[in-house]
Amino acid sequence: MSFYIIDSLAFSYNKNTSLLKNISFVIEKNQHIGLIGENGCGKTTLIKLMLGILKPQKGTILLEGQNVRDIPLSQIGCKIGYVFQNPEKQLFCPTVWEQMSFSFIYGNEIDNQDMEDRINYYLDLFELEKYKNDSPMKLSRGEKQRLALASVLSRNVDYLIMDEPTIGLDILRKKQLEKCLLTLKSEKKGFMIISHEPNFLEKYVDKLLILSSKGVEVI
Ligand SMILES: Nc1ncnc2c1ncn2[C@@H]1O[C@H](COP(=O)(O)OP(=O)(O)O)[C@@H](O)[C@H]1O
Ligand SMILES: [Mg+2]
Repeated sequence: MSFYIIDSLAFSYNKNTSLLKNISFVIEKNQHIGLIGENGCGKTTLIKLMLGILKPQKGTILLEGQNVRDIPLSQIGCKIGYVFQNPEKQLFCPTVWEQMSFSFIYGNEIDNQDMEDRINYYLDLFELEKYKNDSPMKLSRGEKQRLALASVLSRNVDYLIMDEPTIGLDILRKKQLEKCLLTLKSEKKGFMIISHEPNFLEKYVDKLLILSSKGVEVI
C-alpha cells in the first residue's frame, strides 16, 4: 500500500480564487521527495492539507489507505514529523530541553533514559547543548531552525516533511542537516523537502514534484 495517495485535490482559501487544483501524486513510505514551485504557489498549503490541518474542497488524501480527514491530528503527528517554514511557530516551551521532550508526548512508547539519550544526541549534533536551559526565543533564526529540526528528528517518526529547512542555515549547519538526511536514508526513512535550492535537492531526493497553478508535475 502506498504511504500517501493524493487524488484530484483542489483547495482555495476563498471562493473567488483557486489555489491548488488537479493535484494528484503518490508517495511511498521510504521515498525521498523534493517539492518545488514559485513563491505563493501553495507548497506550504499542500503540506497542511497532507497533515490534515486544512481540509480539501475536492479530491482525497489517503495516508496508508485512510482518508486524512478521518484521522485524528495527533495520530498523524505520530507518523509524520513536520518542520514548519517558520520555526518560531513551533517553539513554545520555556526551555530548549522542554521543547525537545515535548515532542515525545505524541504517544511514542519510549523509556526516559532512551528519550534523554536521543535528545542529547540531537542537541549535540546540532550544537544546541549549551542552550539546554535557555528559552528557545533567545536563539538566533538559524538556531531556532536547528532546534525545530532536532526536536522532530529525535522523535522516531515514519516520515519527515521539512518546509524550506535550509533557510537560515549557514554552510556548516547545512552540512549537518545533510548528514541527518543521510542518516534518515540509511534508516530507510522517507522524507519530503520543500526547497528553492535545486543543488541541495538534487543530492537527496529521488522524485521531484513541481507545483504550479496547473497542478503537479512529477519528474
Ligand atoms: N491562512 C491563509 N488565508 C488566506 N490566504 C492564505 C493563507 N495562507 C496562505 N495564503 C495564501 O495562499 C497562497 C499560497 O501560500 P503558501 O501555501 O504559503 O505558498 P508557498 O508555500 O508555495 O510559498 C499565497 O498567496 C498566500 O498568501
Ligand atoms: Mg511556503
